[in-house]
Amino acid sequence: MSHVQKIGLNLMENGQPIDLYVLTSKNGLSAKILTYGATLVELQVPDRFGEFNDILLGFDTLDGFLTNDPYFGVIVGRVANRIARGKFTLDGKEYRLSINDGPNHLHGGLKGFSKVVWRAEPIPEKDGVGVGLSYFSADGEEGYPGGLSVRVVYVLTDDNELRIDYAAKTDKPTPVNLSNHAYFNLAGAENADILDHELLLVADRFTPVDDALNLTGEIMPVEGTPLDFRTPTAIGSRILQIPSSLGGYDHNFVLNNDCGKLAMAARVYDSSTGRVMEILSTEPGVQFYSSNFLDGSIKGKKGIFYRKHHGFCLETQHFPDSVNHTNFPSTILRPGKTYAQTTIHRFSVK
Ligand code: GAL
Repeated sequence: MSHVQKIGLNLMENGQPIDLYVLTSKNGLSAKILTYGATLVELQVPDRFGEFNDILLGFDTLDGFLTNDPYFGVIVGRVANRIARGKFTLDGKEYRLSINDGPNHLHGGLKGFSKVVWRAEPIPEKDGVGVGLSYFSADGEEGYPGGLSVRVVYVLTDDNELRIDYAAKTDKPTPVNLSNHAYFNLAGAENADILDHELLLVADRFTPVDDALNLTGEIMPVEGTPLDFRTPTAIGSRILQIPSSLGGYDHNFVLNNDCGKLAMAARVYDSSTGRVMEILSTEPGVQFYSSNFLDGSIKGKKGIFYRKHHGFCLETQHFPDSVNHTNFPSTILRPGKTYAQTTIHRFSVK
């Protein structure tokens, strides 16, 4: 039987208790979600022999998640990824955001949505088990205009899927671009790196970045570049062709289906365990990040120090820095409208 369990962690952050929710599906898949950062802490899925393993990078202790500089498993927002120089103009007014990544604003700023406690409650689902998390981001928080009510629901379905539904409403026009920042290693989080994983991305185009990871504003074909993942290709096979200033993949791919309807975005296969993860999303883009900034200094689960390329992120979202590029799909949410996105991680073996 599928079930959800709540574990109080006897720890408060700004007067709010932090809890851990454990979702277990009828097939035995399980997900742990921490109310701090609405963080996906652990995800146990079977390999081709039916052996379960945790495929997410992270920490064994809550303390680890309270700092969590790499953003392991968190919800990033109000706007995921970078906003160049932390500024943008909306309806003729310039806004200045908190700066937390060189000269830029990254993943919502100093705390964003990843270093705050969310309210949570279990959700009865007919096709699985879920937990709903809510957060109210005040007008002016991190420099953003408008009070924003955010809701994220994690559901572990009986069809071996982890579904994440996002919704938000605002009282003033504001940019919103939410994503989950899980680092996967389908061989199991303790395994070396993801360079042998085969990746397929349903993307004919990408948005180039400069040496400082700022978007140039162009939209270019992947054809003839090391970013062509239109057929399954090992992540490591061309990674050294990426300019060394980036250290690996850290690019937004333009998904072929950008109509807001759920569509296939990516598939990843690890031949050592047979695990396959398919990603379906309503979003127009996916940030593929090959954990280039992990440098062996962070001690993760089971005492393992995570090195470069230990995991990969596929962050479904609108394009980075959309507020400063009018040719990108808009991330502006206006009062009376609801922001919505759904992403599904579907697991199988081959
Ligand atoms: C990714 C981003 C990277 C890096 C990482 C966090 O989403 O694309 O450049 O900032 O988050 O370390």
